[in-house]
Amino acid sequence: MCGIVGYIGRRDVAPLLLEGLQRLEYRGYDSAGVVITGKTGDLRVVKAKGRVRELQARVPKRFAGTTGIAHTRWATHGKPSDLNAHPHLDNDEKVAVVHNGIIDNASELRARLVAEGAELVSETDTEVLAHLIARSAAETLEQKVRDALRSVEGTYGLAVLHRDFPDRIVVARNGSPVVLGIGEKEMFVASDVAALVAHTRQVVTLEDGEMATLKADDFRTYTTEGSRTSATPTTVEWEAESYDMGGHDTYMHKEICEQAEAVDRVLRGRIDDRFATVRLDGLNLDAREARGVRRIKILGCGTSYHAGQIGAQLIEELARIPSDAEPASEFRYRNAVVDPDTLYLAVSQSGETYDVLAAVQELKRKGARVLGVVNVVGSAIARESDGGMYVHAGPEVCVVSTKCFTNTVVAFALLALHLGRVRDLSVADGRRIIAGLRKLPEQIEQVLKTEPDIKRLATHFADARSMLFVGRVRGYPVAREAALKLKEVSYVHAEAYPASELKHGPLALVEPAMPTVAIVPDDDLLEKNRAAMEEIKARSGRILAVAHQEQEKADHTIVVPKNEDELDPILMGIPLQLFAYHTALALGRDIDKPRNLAKSVTVE
Ligand code: F6R
Repeated sequence: MCGIVGYIGRRDVAPLLLEGLQRLEYRGYDSAGVVITGKTGDLRVVKAKGRVRELQARVPKRFAGTTGIAHTRWATHGKPSDLNAHPHLDNDEKVAVVHNGIIDNASELRARLVAEGAELVSETDTEVLAHLIARSAAETLEQKVRDALRSVEGTYGLAVLHRDFPDRIVVARNGSPVVLGIGEKEMFVASDVAALVAHTRQVVTLEDGEMATLKADDFRTYTTEGSRTSATPTTVEWEAESYDMGGHDTYMHKEICEQAEAVDRVLRGRIDDRFATVRLDGLNLDAREARGVRRIKILGCGTSYHAGQIGAQLIEELARIPSDAEPASEFRYRNAVVDPDTLYLAVSQSGETYDVLAAVQELKRKGARVLGVVNVVGSAIARESDGGMYVHAGPEVCVVSTKCFTNTVVAFALLALHLGRVRDLSVADGRRIIAGLRKLPEQIEQVLKTEPDIKRLATHFADARSMLFVGRVRGYPVAREAALKLKEVSYVHAEAYPASELKHGPLALVEPAMPTVAIVPDDDLLEKNRAAMEEIKARSGRILAVAHQEQEKADHTIVVPKNEDELDPILMGIPLQLFAYHTALALGRDIDKPRNLAKSVTVE
């Protein structure tokens, strides 16, 4: 999704901005642009469709300045092109704007501006902002931006330069992240800390409805109405190196390989052996309240939704609270019954996914209690929630989510154990689950050691145009997530089905050209899963099983270590992340930036 970087200080700004844009490349984009305040005070702009390196190639040798803003664009209004790339300027080239989000009333505003004589040159919604700011008769840049925002409906994270106010950058946030980076006699702004941490770890995250003015040695924050707000910088948890590739060829590979330490992190400091439970202080839910929860509804999108499905099963199994997961993108539009005895859990890696945030806001408006299960500390969903737990996966850069999925499921296991132990889960079962959780990091390492075999299998199946993924109960969300991973990163069509449903339709698809991946844990459903494989074999289907022991009915088996039955889904997903990765590699895909996708979907 779109990215913003800005800088004001004493250093040469263009290389800083280009480096910042490169750090945001992972979010997905189709064009990029930069504007600086040149030596004479003029705004100097360069834009390019395509990658940041294409923009870099266009930046002239003499492009000196110490103030600038830059952008990577992911097309919403208007196709990817040089003209539609940000920044956008008014006709007198006084104002330059970069913008993330969507201006809902852009067509009305365009019509109004054209009637007033403005000449709009792009197809974007953003361009209206530059014209509106330029047309404001207010005296200060802050007031001009405020005036413009008064006419605007929609979401924005934006940064503005003005030729007449060369000593400042003005930024504003409503529904799209804006983070200020506080340096020594220099200030940064970005839509994502990833673009800042190489320079400063002191940050201020703007709230919705907040604006800020950045000068080289000073910043201040205030509401869109103009009243001052207090902004104490916090320190970003992660070093700049955590955002680097660390010797791997892709972020996806790096992040798959980091899972043992990531899981160790989500467990660290939370296990309470004495009472065979876990401490989750951030939930803000005491034992009495936890006992009073009648239902749990988990909301998330994509991979986070799948993690939520496994989470719902864990909570039902360990805490015996009826639970289910639903895509937040659906939930928010169906006027769901909001029940006071239901606890709502919002799941998100980025903590900024618009559909999840909108669902949280709707639930809060209706008086529900919402807890966040989030990776990015201080993100919008974390802040909007009444409490929650961080999943501590560390920065996830690849568009395709892997380590955060695993850590989110482990976080759900902790939550399920915690809720179980204030209800009816026995001490013995609590100890059993804790022992299982502690085994995970080592077992993940064992799974990762099988990578050469998985690579061989992925290459073997890479010619398949379509694949079927089946699992039953605990295995079904694993199958769904594995199918999503394969299609996202390799573009191979993949369909997930409950193995129990095969006879009710999907068996018709089975033939040698449509291989099946079967999730076959050693649990009480093992024989049922074997019977499903038998049915597939009888129709000449090829089978790759992920199981705890070699499967006779399968053509190939990836054997993973056995844990407690309830925790098996955590390990069974990991080899299939590697399978998707190696399929994509065999097919020559752009692994970290799959086509048409963006890392955090901050628009509808
Ligand atoms: C899949 C993927 C997406 C995200 C989804 C939600 O690999 O990355 O499906 O899971 O867009 O994103 P978050 O978790 O940031 O809310």
